[in-house]
Amino acid sequence: MTSWITICDTCKTEGWSEKGTETTDGAALAALIEAAAEGQPVHTRRVSCTMGCERACNIIVQAKGKIGYSLGKFEPTAEAAQAIVDYAAMHSASETGQVPFRQWPVGVKGHFVSRQVPLPESD
Ligand code: FES
Repeated sequence: MTSWITICDTCKTEGWSEKGTETTDGAALAALIEAAAEGQPVHTRRVSCTMGCERACNIIVQAKGKIGYSLGKFEPTAEAAQAIVDYAAMHSASETGQVPFRQWPVGVKGHFVSRQVPLPESD
């Protein structure tokens, strides 16, 4: 099951207002992730606020039937975007959504906020 990267496009990191730009940090990170995700086995989508505002920038990696993860405290950089996409591609390839720690891209380490176990198959 292909994994999704859900990106909060309204996140603003500390000091955003001094940057003098209309573009939020979340929107900037979303654009970088979307570019890095081209041709990769991941889907992307944007949402406005995942209720983790104090940990901006926030993203979620999830897929049906797999463990999902919320990650935060990203800066809107190409390096962060690449690490997120690389990690999501590993999540995509994993049957359960678990990726061994030794395989995590350096850029996602220290950014995990929560884990969501998948719902049971039956109602
Ligand atoms: S604005 Fe991004 S989590 Fe609230």
